[in-house]
Formats: sequence, structure tokens, C-alpha cells
Amino acid sequence: MKLVKAGSNWVAGDRFFNRDAEIEALMERVQDGRHTLLTAQRRMGKTSLVRELLRRLDEEGSFETIFVDLEGAFSPADAIAEIGIQTRSMQKTWSRIMSGFGNVVHELRDSVDTVGIADLWVKLRAGIDAGNWRQKGDEVLTALAENERPVVLAIDELPILVNRLLKGDDYRITVERRRTVDELLSWLRKNGQVHQGRICMILSGSVSLEPILRQAGLSAQANIFSPFELKPWDERTAVACLAALAENYDLTLPPEVCRNMCQRLRCHVPHHVQQFFDSLHEHLRRTGRRRASLEDVEKVYNEEMLGVRGQVDLEHYDSGLKMILGREGYRTALEVLKLAAIEDGVLRGDCIGRFREHFPAADEGDPIPIEDVLHVLEHDGYLARQGDRYRFVSGLLEGWWRTRYGGGRASSPSISAGSAHKAEQWP
Ligand SMILES: Nc1ncnc2c1ncn2[C@@H]1O[C@H](COP(=O)(O)OP(=O)(O)OP(=O)(O)O)[C@@H](O)[C@H]1O
Ligand SMILES: [Mg+2]
Repeated sequence: MKLVKAGSNWVAGDRFFNRDAEIEALMERVQDGRHTLLTAQRRMGKTSLVRELLRRLDEEGSFETIFVDLEGAFSPADAIAEIGIQTRSMQKTWSRIMSGFGNVVHELRDSVDTVGIADLWVKLRAGIDAGNWRQKGDEVLTALAENERPVVLAIDELPILVNRLLKGDDYRITVERRRTVDELLSWLRKNGQVHQGRICMILSGSVSLEPILRQAGLSAQANIFSPFELKPWDERTAVACLAALAENYDLTLPPEVCRNMCQRLRCHVPHHVQQFFDSLHEHLRRTGRRRASLEDVEKVYNEEMLGVRGQVDLEHYDSGLKMILGREGYRTALEVLKLAAIEDGVLRGDCIGRFREHFPAADEGDPIPIEDVLHVLEHDGYLARQGDRYRFVSGLLEGWWRTRYGGGRASSPSISAGSAHKAEQWP
């Protein structure tokens, strides 16, 4: 099998590899009309999985599909406008939705071909405000539910909107902000229930919804969505992906080379597998060769994957943490990761105790207790719990943090939390 390299954006069709079992499971949920919350750590291929699912559903023809990205939404009204605008290819539904927009209706109905999407969005958005978004939202979803074929509504990056609404720019959860989130989720939940069987929702996001709702005490609001965890590829699949990429670019990657690549990554996040292949391919091109050796893998891993390229990727992980944890919680997370990195990838139970002393939960300077920080780090796939300790899941992430903050490997595994504390200047 041949596979075309991915950029860093989502993939579908001939760039989409494997995930047959996941597609089958999601197809079954769609057939059964079950709403899904897709969860996974960053870059695992959530958006790609949903896009590919919708592509196959479109091909098959029993469902109408809509993909909505809420990354740019700042309010419930923005979200409704975004869902509304994505219905524009469904002629009847679009007309019905627009007829709810009073005097702009003719303009909107006629302008779909002539006005750019951005202009159309602005016009649509002008008819929705903080007072009527629920009513307008109900109209949009009712119109969708009345479509001839049932609709699969995929909403990506809802957690980013929820997080924004909940914490604002100062990362403080206020009563007012919590109420807004509660209203948005109640609205979604109500519509999910009312239109069960006509609209099947799939939620996903680059940051996880569950820890955010937990911070706000609103976890129950998501319980109409059955969680579906997208796991990393196993080693056999990652090796098969490398082989398919190699075949397409006429490269020879001997089995021990593929295995070595996978062992270094330890956790086979599809994006990391793709990045590793691309870096190796570029390296071979530069040196005018087509066959990779173990030495090539070592060089590319240390210089590219852990080097500039890796640090660029690490920024994405960083930004997700900052967004969820806020300034103070992020600072704690950095210390946790830094300490685990220099301690051979392990955060020991006694170190967690020290964090508790340094960052007490109720301290007004730090609204995020260490338990919540660890929960986010665990949920987002950085660390896995093992008894009373935590360990880095991915060899690559461990390497990144060690390179960036650890200043090289810890000279001895017996280095104490106390000495790390001094060396790294904990606050
Ligand atoms: N099934 C797949 N086949 C091949 N490559 C994949 C697959 N899934 C993901 N990838 C690789 O991972 C990259 C990221 O994919 P995608 O954007 O779907 O992940 P994501 O989990 O939505 O990321 P984020 O957490 O940033 O939202 C893609 O550019 C591609 O390189
Ligand atoms: Mg995504």
C-alpha cells in the first residue's frame, strides 16, 4: 500500500491511514443515533477521523453531514451562526433557517452564491444576540432535524469555546461565566435529546472537554455524549504506516529501522509518526540516499525531532496547556513536566507532596490545585499514573521537555526533588 505524506492539517481520503475499527465503531453509533464525545490527546487524529467518517457517510448517502469548527467562536451566538452557515449546501434547510431572520432573509437567501462566506457569516451573525441565541439555535436545529435524511452534526473545538466562556481573558471562573457555559451546554443537551434519531452529534476538540467541565463542576452536562477514546496506533500499525509512506516515496526502511523509530516515540501518535518519516525523508534527500540506517534514525531523532522541528510542535502542546490551566496552573504544569523530565520521565509521589506544600489548593495566587493540573496532564496524554507516581507516556514528549527545560538528562536517577527544586528555581 502507498500513502501520501500529510502536512500538519487534518487528513482524509488517500492520506488517511488505518483507523478502520474506529470508523466502524463510529458508523455504528451514527446508525444507532448515539451522540459521541471524541477524546484523545493532541495530534492523535481526532479531526481527521471525523472528517473521514463524514466523507464515507457522504459517499454512502443515508445521512446528511455537517462539520462545524468553533475555534473562532467567542460566544454562543457565534456558535449558532457557525452551525447555521454550514447548512448552506442543504437548500431547503438553509431557506428555512434564513426565513427566521426577518428582514435580512431575502438578502441572505439570494446571496449564497454571490457573497463570500465571511460576509454571509457577518450578516447571519447580526441577527443573533445574547438575548435570542437560544431561540435562533432551536430554529437552526429544528430545521436540521426536519431534513429528509437524518443529519450527522460534527462540532470540532467546542472545548475551546467553553474554556473561553468559562475563564475569559483573566482565567477566572466567575458565577456569570459559569452560568453562560451552563446555558450553552443545557441548550446543546436539550437539542440532543429532542432531536435524537434525527440529529446525531459528534463533539471533538484539540483540548479535552472533560477537565474543563470538571473545573466548573458541570461534568453532568455532557452526559448525553458517550465518550469514545481515540488511542495511539499500536507498533504494528505505526510500522505499516511507515512502510506505506516509504513505498510511495521509493525509500527503503529496513524492519529494524521502523521498529527503532517506533521505540523512540514509544507512543505512536499519528502526527509524530508522520513527522518522523518526513524528517527522515528530508535527511535522506539531502544526503542523496534512498536507504535509511539506524544511524540516520538516531541523527534525525536528536537533531530534527528533538530539535527545532520538535520545539515548534511543543509550542502547540504548550498553548493547549496555557489555555486550559491559565497562567498559574500552567506554571505548575511546567514545573511538574520539567521535574518529571529530569527525573528520567517519572514524577514520584513524594515530589507531588512537595508541590502540594508549594502550591496549596486554596492559595489565592494559584486557583488550580496540583490534583487538577495532574488531571489535565493525564487527560491530555502527557503523563500516566502508576501507583503513587506519574510517568511520561510518549518518549518524544519526554525528550522535548528534557531538551527544553531539563538541560539534558539527570546525571543520576537519585537526584532529589529538593536539589531539582534549587537547580530549577521553583518559585
Ligand atoms: N489516520 C491518519 N492517517 C495518517 N495520518 C494521520 C491520521 N490521523 C492523523 N494523522 C496525522 O496527524 C496530523 C494531525 O491530525 P489531526 O489534525 O486530525 O489531529 P487532531 O487530533 O485533530 O489534532 P489537534 O489535537 O491539534 O486538534 C495529520 O496532519 C497527520 O499528519
Ligand atoms: Mg483537531
